[in-house]
Amino acid sequence: MKILAFESSCDETAVAVVEDGRKVLSDAIASQVDIHAIYGGVVPEIASRKHVEAIAALTEKALADAGCTRSDIDAVAVTYAPGLIGAVLVGLSFAKSVAYALNVPLIPVHHIRGHIAANYLAFPDLEPPFLALAISGGNTLIIDVRDYTDMEILGSTRDDAAGECFDKAARVLGLTYPGGKPIDELAQKSQGGVYQLPHSKVDGAPLDMSFSGLKTAVVNLAHHAKQVGEELDASALARDFTKAVSDTLVPRAMLAAQQTGRKTIVAAGGVAANSIIRADLERECRKADCKLYLPPLRLCGDNGAMIGAQGYYEFLAGHTADMSLNAYATRDITD
Ligand code: KG4
Repeated sequence: MKILAFESSCDETAVAVVEDGRKVLSDAIASQVDIHAIYGGVVPEIASRKHVEAIAALTEKALADAGCTRSDIDAVAVTYAPGLIGAVLVGLSFAKSVAYALNVPLIPVHHIRGHIAANYLAFPDLEPPFLALAISGGNTLIIDVRDYTDMEILGSTRDDAAGECFDKAARVLGLTYPGGKPIDELAQKSQGGVYQLPHSKVDGAPLDMSFSGLKTAVVNLAHHAKQVGEELDASALARDFTKAVSDTLVPRAMLAAQQTGRKTIVAAGGVAANSIIRADLERECRKADCKLYLPPLRLCGDNGAMIGAQGYYEFLAGHTADMSLNAYATRDITD
């Protein structure tokens, strides 16, 4: 079954053709990162307009790259939530019109389910059940993936997402947007241990997380240094900050594995590209005798193929939609 998949929830327009949920026939991406970098973050109105400009030509490219014609497409999958509402609406409206014109089923896909499914593309042996640590620009979740479309949230951030925190920290350190990768590179240059940063806990909810205190601490450190004309040790701060994020995420993922008895952990989302978090997960999974799946870096960020992968399993579960399907800025992964 060949699925034409659309992703437009943030600042990448992405269209892919995926066969039977596991085989990527094409994966076309038009990134807007350079435009948003000028403003230090995503400007929603610009994102929507850029999706409109890119999506039709990108669809032709995805079909051509896959060696397909329109009549080869069996279904259309699309991110319908969560994300920037205008951006999601562009992909959704386009996908609806394609599904209508081709007279094929329309499959709604939750963006975070897609991030998790990116791992099905990289690891043919991976099957649920497993525990997922989904860490992206807008979401931070620990999820029990009982089956391809049956999930339960075990823990989540109560405020900022991990990726948002990386982007904000990078901004005050004068690094480019998106900040995760530059912070990662900077952190490699130091052993850290210079800055005391908060490691928040949520009372009575050991699997929940909070990143706003950490974010504020980094912002205050940078502003204070500027006010008193002090030089910050930027690489040490990048390392100590990343360690604080990792020390929040990794022990909770391990605790969730212990509580559920899951012996397989899967990382997903843009922040899963972080080298310190990956190394910490590898070490802790070895200790706990858990099997760890880390997506290759190209599949950590937003892409269309992951939507095609999850779309296949949503289709098998009977999850299709009619033309009344709406876009949502927020939506629970279990809905
Ligand atoms: O999954 P993603 O591409 O988009 C969303 O679905 O939100 O994640 C984007 C986030 C950004 O916040 C970016 O700074 C972060 O992933 N990111 C990283 C790294 N590469 C990207 N964060 C930490 N370390 C990295 N190497």
